[in-house]
Amino acid sequence: MFSWLVGALFLGSSAQLDVLTEAQSPLELRNPSVSAKDWQQLGSDVGGRMFEGVPFAEPCFTGPWNSSECVSIRENYVDEVTRTSEASAYIQTQWETCQVTGEQCLLNFLDPNDTQPTLAPRSCKQGSVPSYFIDVRGADDVNAAFKFVKGNGVPLVIKNTGHDYKGRSSAPGSLALWMHNLKNISYSPAFVPSGCTSEPRQAATLGAGVQWGEAYAFADTQNITLVGGSDKVVGAAGGWLQGGGQGALSPSLGLGADRALEFKIVTPDGKLRIANECQNTDLFWALRGGGGGTFGVVLESTVLASPQVKLQTLILTFAPDANVTKEMWTIMADNGLKWAEEGWGGFSMANVVIFLNPKLSPSAAQVSMAPLIDFGKRLQATASATTTVLFTEFPSWNAFFQAFSKDFVATVGSSLALASRLIPKSIFETTEKKESLVSGLLAADAAAPGLIILISAPTAYTHTPNATSVTDAWRSSVYHVTVVSSWNWNATLAEKQLHYQTASGSIDNLRRITPDAAYQNEADVHEPNHEVSFWGTNYPELLRIKQKYDPDHLLDCWHCVGWNQEDRRFSCYV
Ligand SMILES: Cc1cc2nc3c(=O)[nH]c(=O)nc-3n(C[C@H](O)[C@H](O)[C@H](O)COP(=O)(O)OP(=O)(O)OC[C@H]3O[C@@H](n4cnc5c(N)ncnc54)[C@H](O)[C@@H]3O)c2cc1C
Ligand SMILES: *[C@@H]1O[C@H](CO)[C@@H](O)[C@H](O)[C@H]1NC(C)=O
Ligand SMILES: *[C@@H]1O[C@H](CO)[C@@H](O)[C@H](O)[C@H]1NC(C)=O
Ligand SMILES: *[C@@H]1O[C@H](CO)[C@@H](O)[C@H](O)[C@H]1NC(C)=O
Ligand SMILES: *[C@@H]1O[C@H](CO)[C@@H](O)[C@H](O)[C@H]1NC(C)=O
Ligand SMILES: *[C@@H]1O[C@H](CO)[C@@H](O)[C@H](O)[C@H]1NC(C)=O
Ligand SMILES: *[C@@H]1O[C@H](CO)[C@@H](O)[C@H](O)[C@H]1NC(C)=O
Ligand SMILES: *[C@@H]1O[C@H](CO)[C@@H](O)[C@H](O)[C@H]1NC(C)=O
Repeated sequence: MFSWLVGALFLGSSAQLDVLTEAQSPLELRNPSVSAKDWQQLGSDVGGRMFEGVPFAEPCFTGPWNSSECVSIRENYVDEVTRTSEASAYIQTQWETCQVTGEQCLLNFLDPNDTQPTLAPRSCKQGSVPSYFIDVRGADDVNAAFKFVKGNGVPLVIKNTGHDYKGRSSAPGSLALWMHNLKNISYSPAFVPSGCTSEPRQAATLGAGVQWGEAYAFADTQNITLVGGSDKVVGAAGGWLQGGGQGALSPSLGLGADRALEFKIVTPDGKLRIANECQNTDLFWALRGGGGGTFGVVLESTVLASPQVKLQTLILTFAPDANVTKEMWTIMADNGLKWAEEGWGGFSMANVVIFLNPKLSPSAAQVSMAPLIDFGKRLQATASATTTVLFTEFPSWNAFFQAFSKDFVATVGSSLALASRLIPKSIFETTEKKESLVSGLLAADAAAPGLIILISAPTAYTHTPNATSVTDAWRSSVYHVTVVSSWNWNATLAEKQLHYQTASGSIDNLRRITPDAAYQNEADVHEPNHEVSFWGTNYPELLRIKQKYDPDHLLDCWHCVGWNQEDRRFSCYV
C-alpha cells in the first residue's frame, strides 16, 4: 500500500520503507520533522485561517454519489470560476495528482457523471494537493509561513488561481499560501510610486487575488483600460504579471510587466517591502518578468492604466479546411510586419482569426485589414453558410472581452501538456522564411491539433531598455504560438509521457526555425535550455537577485530562477 510513497518520496531507496508504520499519517511521513502540534501552532499564528487541503472531488469518493456536495462538484467540475474559487482545485488537473504514482482524486472531465473513476479499488488520494492552505489576508500570515518552513523544510507554494501550466502552484506535502481573498481594487488618477518624484500617472492597484474579469469590469466603471489576458479568471496581480503577462492589447500597450509600477511584497526574510523604480529596484526589475513564486509573496501590484480605447475588430471564421488555413496563415505572414507595427493584436486558430486595434481609425483599420477582409468575402461567396466575416468597433476592451469570452472558454478540468514558441520578426522578412513559418505552423497543428497563434508581442509599444527582466526576444517577436495535448483521468504513466512528448514534438516544427525563446507562463514543462528561452541574457542577474532575497531557498518552483531540481517537491513530475 505504500508503493505511492516509494515513488513519490524515496525514489527507489526502499530501505526507507522499514521505518514506515501504518500508524503514521501520510503527512508526518512526508514531513517527519513536523508534528500535528506544530501545524496547530501555525494555524493559531495565522488567526485560525489555515485549513487542510482536501482534493476537490473528495466528497464524490467518500460520500454518497448523489449527496448534494458530490452533485455540486459534478455540475461544476469543468467550471473555471468554481475551480479558481476552491483552494485545492486546479485548472489543469494533473497538478492535483502525483503523475508518477497515479495517486489522484479525479473525475472524468468529459462526463463528470461517469461513476467509473470513483469505483473500488480506486480511492481519493492527496496527490500534489497541498497538505495545508493559509487563507492569506496580510503580511503577518506570509511571515508566519516563512518562519514555519525555515525551521522544518516543508515545501512552501503560493497558490493564486491555479492556472499554472507547469504546476508551479501545487506540490506534494506542501504548505500553500492561498492568495484568492486579497480582492481589493482601487484606481489612482495620479499615482506616484512611493518615494519617487516621477510624473503622476493613471494607475490601478490590484490585490494579489484579483482576477482579470474583475479587473476589466472595474476598469469600465473608471473609464480606463487595463492590459490583461484573454481568460476572465486568470490572476491579474500574481503569476501572470510576474511572468511577463501577454494579451491582445500588448502589441499596442505593452506586456503586463512593462506596465507594472509598484509591488507590495513580503520577502523570505519576513520583511514587507515596496519595490518600484526608486526603492528595491533590483527586486522591482526581477518581479517584472523573472517569474512568480521565486522572489517573495506579492500582496498587491500597481499597474499603469490607459485611457479608455475603442477597438477596431475583424473576426473571421470558416469551416475547417487545411487548404483554407494555409491561405489565411500565408496572408497573415505576408502582412505580419506591417500589422505588427500598426499595433494589431489578436488570436488565430486553424479556422478562426480575430484582429483588434486600439490605435487606428475605423477607415484606416479597414484599409489595413483589406487582405483578410477580401479573403473572407471570397470564402463567403462559395461557402456562405459556414463563413463569418465581421468588421466592427467595440467601445472598450471590456465590451470586446465580454463578447469574446462567451465563445472562447478554455478547457478546464482536464490534464494537458502545453508547448510554445516566440516567433521572431526576422521570419517575416523573406518569402522563403514566410513559407517555412506557414509550413511549420501547419505541421505543428497537424501533430497536436488546437494550435493557437497569440498575436501579443509588444511590437508597436516603445519600451524602456532593461526596465523588465523578460527575455529580450519578446521585443523582436511577433507571435507567441501554443499547442496542447490533453488526457483524461485514466491515462497510464506511459500515455502521460507520450502527451508531453507530443506537445514538445509538435512545437519542434517551430523550434527548428526560431531562436531559443518561449513565454515562461505558457511553456513546455520540459522546455530545452529554459533559462535562455525564458530570460535570455537576464538570467545571471536574476539568479543573483534570487540569492540575495531568498538565500535559504524557502521558495522554489519548476524551471524557476535558481530552482533546485532535486527538491522533493518535484517528485510527481513526469
Ligand atoms: C485558461 C488559461 C488562459 C490563460 N491565458 C493567458 C493569457 O491570456 N495571457 C498570459 O500571459 N497568460 C495566460 N495564461 C497563463 C498564465 O499567465 C499562467 O497560468 C500564470 O501562471 C497564472 O498566474 P496565477 O497567479 O493566476 O496562477 P497560479 O497557478 O495560482 O500561480 C502561478 C505562479 O505564480 C506564483 N504566484 C501566484 N501569485 C503570486 C503572488 N501573489 N506572489 C508571488 N508569486 C505568485 C505561483 O507561486 C506560481 O508559481 C493562461 C492560462 C490558462 C490556464
Ligand atoms: C443518482 O441519482 C440519479 C437520478 O438523479 C439516478 O439515476 C442514479 O441511479 C443515482 N445514483 C446512485 C449511485 O444512487
Ligand atoms: C449530471 O448529474 C447532475 C445531477 O443529477 C445533473 O444536474 C447534470 O445535469 C448531469 N450532467 C450531465 C452532463 O448529464
Ligand atoms: C482592502 O480595503 C479595505 C477598505 O479600504 C481596507 O480596510 C483593507 O485593509 C484593505 N485590505 C488589504 C489587504 O489591503
Ligand atoms: C538591468 O536592471 C537591473 C535592475 O536595476 C540591474 O540589476 C541590471 O544590472 C541591469 N542590467 C543591465 C544589463 O544593465
Ligand atoms: C472616457 O474616456 C475617454 C477617453 O479618454 C473620453 O473620450 C470620454 O469622454 C470618457 N467618458 C466619460 C463618460 O468620462
Ligand atoms: C487541398 O489542396 C490540394 C492540392 O492543391 C488538393 O489536392 C486537395 O484536394 C485540397 N483539399 C481540399 C479539402 O480542398
Ligand atoms: C477511460 O475511461 C473512459 C470512461 O471514463 C473509458 O471510456 C475508456 O475506455 C477508459 N480508457 C481506458 C484505457 O481504460
